[in-house]
Amino acid sequence: MCGIIGYVGAQPATPILLGGLRRLEYRGYDSAGLALQEAGGPLVALRSVGKVARLAEKVKQELTAERQATATVGIAHTRWATHGAPTEANAHPHFSADRKLCLVHNGIIENYRAIRARLEAKGHVFTSETDTEALARLIGEHYQGDLRKAVGQALAQVEGAYGIAVMATAQPGVLVVARKGSPLVLGLGEGETLVASDASALIAHTQRVIYLDDGDIATVTANTVDIRDRHDVLREREVAELGLDLGAVEKGGYEHFMLKEIFEQAESVGNALRGRLDTEHGTAVLAGMGTSPRDLAELQRIVLVGCGTSLHAGQVGEFAFEDLADLNAEVQQAAEFRYRNPLVGSHDLVLAISQSGETADTLAAVREAKEKGALVLGLVNVVGSTIARETGRGVFIHAGPEISVASTKAFTGQVAVLLLMALRLGRGRRLSLERGRVLAAELARLPELIAQVLAQNDAIAAVAGRMAAAEHAFFLGRGPMHPVALEGALKLKEISYVHAEGYHAAEMKHGPIALLTPGTPVVVLANRSPQLDKVWSNAEECKARGARIIAVVTAGSAADTIADDRIVIPECDPLVATIPAAIALQLLAYHVARLRGCPIDQPRNLAKSVTVE
Ligand code: F6R
Repeated sequence: MCGIIGYVGAQPATPILLGGLRRLEYRGYDSAGLALQEAGGPLVALRSVGKVARLAEKVKQELTAERQATATVGIAHTRWATHGAPTEANAHPHFSADRKLCLVHNGIIENYRAIRARLEAKGHVFTSETDTEALARLIGEHYQGDLRKAVGQALAQVEGAYGIAVMATAQPGVLVVARKGSPLVLGLGEGETLVASDASALIAHTQRVIYLDDGDIATVTANTVDIRDRHDVLREREVAELGLDLGAVEKGGYEHFMLKEIFEQAESVGNALRGRLDTEHGTAVLAGMGTSPRDLAELQRIVLVGCGTSLHAGQVGEFAFEDLADLNAEVQQAAEFRYRNPLVGSHDLVLAISQSGETADTLAAVREAKEKGALVLGLVNVVGSTIARETGRGVFIHAGPEISVASTKAFTGQVAVLLLMALRLGRGRRLSLERGRVLAAELARLPELIAQVLAQNDAIAAVAGRMAAAEHAFFLGRGPMHPVALEGALKLKEISYVHAEGYHAAEMKHGPIALLTPGTPVVVLANRSPQLDKVWSNAEECKARGARIIAVVTAGSAADTIADDRIVIPECDPLVATIPAAIALQLLAYHVARLRGCPIDQPRNLAKSVTVE
């Protein structure tokens, strides 16, 4: 949520900053800005509303070629508005009163009103509605030639979350960056240092990175990095290798990142499973769970926390843990977890599910669960992310960078790993060798099952064509397909703006059925499962009210008379089938959005990685 990139080195900073912003645009895209530092000169800033391309246009028009070539230090930002509308005045960077220092900021300064009032009483005239400007001016108030010190003094008065990058005219070639609750990573190049809110902006320049910890303040120059922790103690932080190539963050010939990521799933789910399935013993090997078989056997409950798509993955996991591991499992919305004074303790496993590993609510739930003495594990995609580091143990899904704002391959990776975990826990408890083997073999088939769904892309596009004009849609499922229905509806609404509701199929008749009018598309997850007859009955009830039924059915199942359209998924175990079914619905949403001409990778009002509460 919001993107930061900063550069200090010997190369012209402008193209590096703009290139970084383009990579970060998925984190916020309602306005953007950059500031450049030239030794002895004033700070030059440009800001614009809308996408990074508009900022780049403005740079071309308003910055002389000479200035673009000579400025080798700068900071830049792409914004997802929290305080104040997406206007040029609210875009970052923001300046101190004397305009001699400026900063870019991710996160929220919760007590900014009080800071602003104090500064206004001293004569400051604010030029924006943002919380960020209050911080810029506050740092300016403390600045007496030592930027790190001023940043530290200002941040000591701040409540909230921040990742910031600051520079001052009086200290050429120096950037000061700090984080609390909002990620920042340093990229170490040859004679250059970069700072970014996520590593995807660094890949083009370096593979060597340092992830800052909460409370860190780092002073960076082209060749040096000085990191102090929250107690102002100098710290040596580990230098990590990114291990990512540029292809991972480029479209690779696809029209959209979302389509690329949908099509990557045979491979990404394969990566999530690789080396983790033990088909002979019907179990999974998950070193990251890091707990002794005995501890796991003594677990009394598993609580899955997450938000949005990750929450839906957790809901599939809930079924798997109960079914396979005989374990009392429950899903809690991460934003609610710490406010409800959760009943968790040392016999409970709290599993935090997050693609980005940065979602503020999920992170807060992790901290609360640790405080309560629960065993806390992360199920995360982004290595080096805050949740991955704070949980200290857990399982990565290895899906690779997910750039499209709408999550796709992360969901299927999460579900695949949840099934592995349930299998592993189940085999340590009461799951028989025989059932374990069957399930392990089914999981091993997933890449092939996924490929079969992807091969139906054209057929699914045709189904999408017949529902693309609808303004409302329903998604119905039962058992583990209920969360898949929720996820299908979420995908459709976020990228196509079609109002979509996911429901438990049996719930329709308890109210929502009143909304059906002739032709309303109702997507029914009707794969082969013990509840299939009931699902068809629920579909019949909708059909009788004129709904258009789009059924996701298992290949080879008896022909039904209800469905107006069918999407076929391969025959497999009902828990495993959640993955092919979810992919079919991702493609359906994608094609509806494409036909409606929506900006698929960057839907309005959204941003990737929600680092504010
Ligand atoms: C929807 C989507 C969001 C995220 C949610 C949690 O397509 O991407 O609902 O799933 O914001 O994000 P993570 O998984 O990064 O914690």
